[in-house]
Amino acid sequence: DLSSTSYKKSQSYYRGGTSYSGKNVSLNFDKAKYTIKTVTSGNKKIKVRAYENIVYVSKPVDKKYQTMNIYIPVAYFQGKKINGFTKKTAPILMPNSIGGYMPGEAQTLGTSSTSTDSTSTTDASTTAIAANPAAPGAGGAGTNATGGAPAGAGERAIAEGYIVAAPGARGRTTKNSDGKYTGKAPAAIVDLKAAVRYLKLNSKKLPGNENHILSDGTSAGGAMSALLGASGNNKDYAPYLKAIGAADTSDNIYASFVFCPIMNLENADSAYEWQFNGINSYVNGMHMPGETPAPTTLTSKQKSISNDLKKEFPDYVNGLKLKDSDGNVYKMNSNGSGSFNNLIKDTIKNSAQTAIDKGKNITEKKYPFLTIKNKKVTDVNLTKYNKAVGRMKAAPAFDGVDLSNAENQEMGTATVNKKHFTKYSQDNNTAKNKTAIADSTVVSLMNPMDYIGTNNANSASHWYIRYGEMDANTSIAVPTIFSQKLKNSGKDVNYHLEWNKGHAGDYNLNEMFKWSNKIMK
Ligand code: DHB
Repeated sequence: DLSSTSYKKSQSYYRGGTSYSGKNVSLNFDKAKYTIKTVTSGNKKIKVRAYENIVYVSKPVDKKYQTMNIYIPVAYFQGKKINGFTKKTAPILMPNSIGGYMPGEAQTLGTSSTSTDSTSTTDASTTAIAANPAAPGAGGAGTNATGGAPAGAGERAIAEGYIVAAPGARGRTTKNSDGKYTGKAPAAIVDLKAAVRYLKLNSKKLPGNENHILSDGTSAGGAMSALLGASGNNKDYAPYLKAIGAADTSDNIYASFVFCPIMNLENADSAYEWQFNGINSYVNGMHMPGETPAPTTLTSKQKSISNDLKKEFPDYVNGLKLKDSDGNVYKMNSNGSGSFNNLIKDTIKNSAQTAIDKGKNITEKKYPFLTIKNKKVTDVNLTKYNKAVGRMKAAPAFDGVDLSNAENQEMGTATVNKKHFTKYSQDNNTAKNKTAIADSTVVSLMNPMDYIGTNNANSASHWYIRYGEMDANTSIAVPTIFSQKLKNSGKDVNYHLEWNKGHAGDYNLNEMFKWSNKIMK
């Protein structure tokens, strides 16, 4: 349960909101205001200038979240190169801390150091990068604790010679002193855009290449990373940006890392039932590590909701007119069969094949949904795959008819905490506090799908998208459709279903940074 106290307390991004009503904050980056910290990645220790708690908007609504922490390797101030990058060419990684659509404070890196920046630093250009250290926990959100956190993408980025600019963002529970909600949709994406704009406004004073900004996020944060990449410079966000005093520059970025995105919310309910209809028992995945909650069974009402929602999916899929590499349109018949399933099957096939090629012992006996001949995966049985993954959520998975889901709270307004955002759940509402459905424009401002392949946005050119092969937080169709739409619109897309992986982010850092180093060349 994403709204349970124990879940929130387990996440370092859970903080109360504060409000701000002072005079305008300066957006001028102050070069002199830093401390020296040491960032550890594998066996490397890198000294950085830490510029922390920078408010990135001139009219902050919440200074706790509308701040950014910027880390710059000290070597760049000594004219040195790291990994072939210079002070001018270094890429800028923006890892967000959003999880569960909750507010996320800016991630912090490193430990304080008493030495000054004249001390020599580890020369990253000559030291081999250590293998991926202890895997970070699920979600970028888990890594914003100070001290003790395992090295994650941020630390690794520093070791690779990147600049890290970690933004905070408001979320679904943020309130001001008047009791008004301040972080409802589209606040999270508006904040991330404002952070990008701050970097661009100050690009002459800040090291790094403002044309090589990369976003990174996991889950709800993955959705926001996808949206930041997709919706660059779209005008519909302008009034929101203006209201918080965002810099009047641009907010398009170069690339996005997207891990298990909980996105495309208004279509995710039907995608979920297309995948899990008929699987009536589930274990809510949102529990504390070590806990094994008893499985729940869908009620007869929920089973009928599942049947209804499943029927909505073919129209949605066919409307997208997604194409394979030969230009054939992927189709879905009214009963869920059709060539679209080949796209899903190929995604799973590639996942298993990659794992086999890496030496993993994968057999038909262990994974009955696979057909394997001479170490080649030749077929996937989707019904068996869906059973193996298992349902994690009741129907509807996102727009709860009782308004109880994280997403209902995300789609609320300053004065209405929870809203429906699909016609189906609005029509089938069971909550006593039924209110008007969420504004469809706001719902769209949160959906990366709406900005791909159109001329209303400057979408990122490069995409690294990962979804766990065992993840049931959304349907496998959601990230797969998004990736295919990006490919069809001519983007450079590295999409992979990570074998034997659940709901997690920032894994396989070697692979991740190999890809991003390459797109910087
Ligand atoms: C997250 C996970 C979910 O299952 C969901 O519905 C929304 C957000 C998350 O981990 O961010």
